[in-house]
Amino acid sequence: MSVHKASDVKKITTHQLQEMKNRGEKIAMLTAYDYSMARIIDGAGIDVILVGDSASNVMAGNETTLPITLDQMIYHASSVVKAVKRALVVVDIPFGYYQGSSGEALRSSIRIMKESGGHAVKMEGGSEIKDSVLRILSAGVPVMGHLGLTPQSIYKFGTYTVRAKEEVEANKLLEDALLLQECGCFAIVLEKIPATLAKKVSASLQIPVIGIGAGPDVDGQVLVMQDMLGITKDFKPRFLRRYADLNTVITGAIGNYVKDVKARDFPNQEEKY
Ligand code: KIV
Repeated sequence: MSVHKASDVKKITTHQLQEMKNRGEKIAMLTAYDYSMARIIDGAGIDVILVGDSASNVMAGNETTLPITLDQMIYHASSVVKAVKRALVVVDIPFGYYQGSSGEALRSSIRIMKESGGHAVKMEGGSEIKDSVLRILSAGVPVMGHLGLTPQSIYKFGTYTVRAKEEVEANKLLEDALLLQECGCFAIVLEKIPATLAKKVSASLQIPVIGIGAGPDVDGQVLVMQDMLGITKDFKPRFLRRYADLNTVITGAIGNYVKDVKARDFPNQEEKY
């Protein structure tokens, strides 16, 4: 018996993302880590919500994405899933929960799917994670790849600068993207690489390519929500467009609240029982 009603919102699936690429419609993706914000951005029409391990930075205040645990990612993802009616929810497998073996990768992705209700997982890397990608996919879990600047490898790179500027790294990135597609990934994120390379990868692949700092000629864009809403203040990479200045708005609102409390202006006669 179907539990769906005629009024149900049509959910975004990996197949729909493929159709969007096929018809040239760009895919809009943002991160979210909690129920309240996920509810707003889902209602605003986002296609894909990424429960990114950037939660380690913007939610937990860590310098890198490395410390966040699988339990913490599941906590964030389950909060997001409860809020979402339409978007596809993709969850990062955090550092240290898939690099050891394909069995570990499979167990981590099954925990994410079972315990959070997320719809897909994302993993960083190319040929080195091939066995894990295949094992996860064989269990029926959709996988999104992530190439270019892969923050889980920051201590190998040394800096957060643009990746794949040199031919050797650019060729390896294209080979990895083709390999991830061949394995069965439904989409790939390209982070902070030259726009010309991203255009080439997107044109060479059948599956959607979502960029962050990868220029306009890809199939969609992703940003960290706190950055695009201007909640984070000091992070100012060239690729970031700020759509709001919530830091100023929130600071002003809190300042007014503090002033009103101190002045005994809040609560007033109408604001009490
Ligand atoms: O964790 C994250 O937010 C990400 C995006 C930057 C793509 O991986």
